[in-house]
Amino acid sequence: MRFLITAGPTREPMDPVRYISNRSSGKMGYAIAEAALDAGHDVVLISGPVNLAPPRNTRFISAGTSDEMFKAVHRHARESDICVLCAAVADYKPAKVSPAKIKKRGDRMSLELIATCDILESLGQQRDRPFLLVGFAAETDQIEKNAWGKLRRKNCDIIVANDARIAMETDENELRILFRDGETKKISRAPKTFLARELVKIFSNLQQKRLTKKM
Ligand code: CTP
Repeated sequence: MRFLITAGPTREPMDPVRYISNRSSGKMGYAIAEAALDAGHDVVLISGPVNLAPPRNTRFISAGTSDEMFKAVHRHARESDICVLCAAVADYKPAKVSPAKIKKRGDRMSLELIATCDILESLGQQRDRPFLLVGFAAETDQIEKNAWGKLRRKNCDIIVANDARIAMETDENELRILFRDGETKKISRAPKTFLARELVKIFSNLQQKRLTKKM
């Protein structure tokens, strides 16, 4: 199968030397890419800036900002069987990007932010999409309730929910996998490499079933 995977944070510039970003390490997305390759799948990995070497044999696309990631995802989504949007895309970006370095002025400063485009939601809105659509939900409270809300709002087939306090910048995670039909599956705390292998099996089995049904 052909996987499209997004990973890592995005950086939203405010001037030539500063940006807004988050603490995502990219480890979960890269682990899923490795696991998919190991299982014999093809992988397009679209990654924000991280300190990880891209796995060999992926088609690697680097995306700095949410807009770049949006374009790269839309360029490749329809030739994919499974889209796994694991990236921690910034929700807001500076309303204006100053062409010159913003100088210090006074004791306070405020920055106007505007919403970025939601990549997962834009794929969820595609009618008759051929691919399985998987989103991630990083939460700090009411994990399952918030994750179900995201699954419905963004019209995904699967949401993989995790506790952002465990997941960020670490090698371990604990997952709750929510399926569109209401089923849930829990995988207790384990190394991201182990979880990635389990996820790849779950995603490819489900997409295989959907494809067989359509035939
Ligand atoms: N996502 C995306 N584009 C965005 C924001 C998020 O594609 N602009 C995707 C992420 O890759 C992830 C899912 O949406 O698969 C959920 O991301 P998350 O940040 O947890 O959800 P938000 O919708 O931003 O909700 P909130 O920040 O309020 O929890």
